[in-house]
Amino acid sequence: MPRLAGKIAWITGAGSGIGEAAALALADEGATTVLTGRTAEKLDRVAARIRQQGGEAYVQPAELTDAKQVQAIGAFIGKTLGRLDILVNNAGVNIVDRHWDKLTPEGIDELVHGNLSQALYCVTVALPLMRAQKDGLLIHTASIAGRVVGGFPGPIYSAAKHGVVAMSHSINMQECINGIRSTVFLPGEVATPILDKRPNPVGPEERARMVQSEDCGDLIRYIACLPKHVVMSEVMLAPTHNRTYIANLQQKL
Ligand SMILES: NC(=O)c1ccc[n+]([C@@H]2O[C@H](COP(=O)([O-])OP(=O)(O)OC[C@H]3O[C@@H](n4cnc5c(N)ncnc54)[C@H](OP(=O)(O)O)[C@@H]3O)[C@@H](O)[C@H]2O)c1
Repeated sequence: MPRLAGKIAWITGAGSGIGEAAALALADEGATTVLTGRTAEKLDRVAARIRQQGGEAYVQPAELTDAKQVQAIGAFIGKTLGRLDILVNNAGVNIVDRHWDKLTPEGIDELVHGNLSQALYCVTVALPLMRAQKDGLLIHTASIAGRVVGGFPGPIYSAAKHGVVAMSHSINMQECINGIRSTVFLPGEVATPILDKRPNPVGPEERARMVQSEDCGDLIRYIACLPKHVVMSEVMLAPTHNRTYIANLQQKL
């Protein structure tokens, strides 16, 4: 018996990378999935893969930095599916010109809205549905950059992801009385299309040694299947071949 049969899971950023892998893993456990991202064709492709493996998927494209579009998906879920059990709050962005010497107000807005505001909007839509059930799980993809301020992710991405970490813990503090649980997931480098926005290109050999999307999908499946009386508040997943550690070792300070 699939462990998530009868559950409804909404996955943002579901058209590629970690979100795609999470959608496939949750569908494989029997969850009905709602797939959101800006590009309908990418979501259609993931929905087709889910249906091929016998699962159920609804494609709901949206620009998540627009609160009204987020609310429309919440209304669709409430009306059509009647409940929401799991939100994988995963969509996020980075930009090439991410360091202080190149940052513009437009770039700052893209990073803050694209990583933090939209994640907050999704939470405000998910919580009323979950409160009504006295049950619900939110899994937010932040980043190790949301815990440790480092070099390559850039200062605004790091600041926004710190915000996502704080958001997740605050949900547990205020919503535990409603049976709602919140997990913040902090990946290190994962081989996904977001790497194409790095100022320094990342080659195939480097990508092969990173965490893979499927590793994240497996972890998200594990978290989603935990019993209701426990919450995994925070979890990190990093590559063994950690390029930051290796760069530090090579400096031989
Ligand atoms: N890969 C890594 O090394 C790494 C490390 C730490 C954290 N993360 C985080 O992991 C999450 C998933 O990223 P990924 O690595 O899987 O990269 P990805 O393949 O680029 O996935 C990001 C997804 O988010 C969607 N998206 C972005 N902005 C959106 C918006 N405003 N509205 C709706 N959808 C939006 C994108 O689809 P559309 O462009 O079609 O909208 C895309 O499918 C992100 O939050 C990222 O910050 C990644």
